[in-house]
Amino acid sequence: MSDPAASDVAATDPGVRVTLIAAVASNGVIGNSAARIGAGAPAIPWRLPGELAEFKAITMGGVLVMGRATYDTIGRPLPGRTTIVVTRDPAWAADGVEVAHSLDAALGLAATMPGRTFVAGGAQLYEQALALASEQILTMVPLDADGDVLYPAYDPGQWVETERERREAYDRVWLRRAGH
Ligand SMILES: NC(=O)c1ccc[n+]([C@@H]2O[C@H](COP(=O)([O-])OP(=O)(O)OC[C@H]3O[C@@H](n4cnc5c(N)ncnc54)[C@H](OP(=O)(O)O)[C@@H]3O)[C@@H](O)[C@H]2O)c1
Repeated sequence: MSDPAASDVAATDPGVRVTLIAAVASNGVIGNSAARIGAGAPAIPWRLPGELAEFKAITMGGVLVMGRATYDTIGRPLPGRTTIVVTRDPAWAADGVEVAHSLDAALGLAATMPGRTFVAGGAQLYEQALALASEQILTMVPLDADGDVLYPAYDPGQWVETERERREAYDRVWLRRAGH
């Protein structure tokens, strides 16, 4: 997770301020793809009391941009926020959800909406949005978690930790892109 990443270089202004929000284990794991193929594994391999409530409070009133696979693990739009699902499937639709067929289109749509824009996963979306992001809000979970879905590597030299709140089971950390 902390290896310098070639992709982690600020890209052209996406037209909206982009915040990545994720819960990441020490080994970079953010999820488990086995959940998708019905193996009974949890999509996210931990339970953190209070963490979801914090996610809700931080994102309330904003826009959540997420990949179709992440949306499938949630299965419904989250209340009080606009959900934009990114998919290449032209036929995909769900009640109460906006659809975009590229990350650019999703961010363009988010720019027309009130509230902050959060990229809420999963790995494919984080990977593509990292270079566009000016902020990361990370729940850092001190676990070598079981899972095969990883948060993208980012270059710590490009990011400044602006805040850290220590919880019993994790730290919540705010990172701002250096110079932004
Ligand atoms: N720990 C955390 O904070 C956290 C947060 C979120 C998710 N997760 C975990 O992450 C996992 C899912 O991540 P993932 O990487 O497998 O999937 P994902 O990023 O959620 O979604 C991938 C899907 O998004 C669509 N997509 C991606 N890039 C696109 C683009 N440029 N244009 C159009 N559509 C695009 C495609 O959908 P179509 O196939 O429909 O075309 C693709 O299959 C799950 O295990 C989930 O639980 C963890």
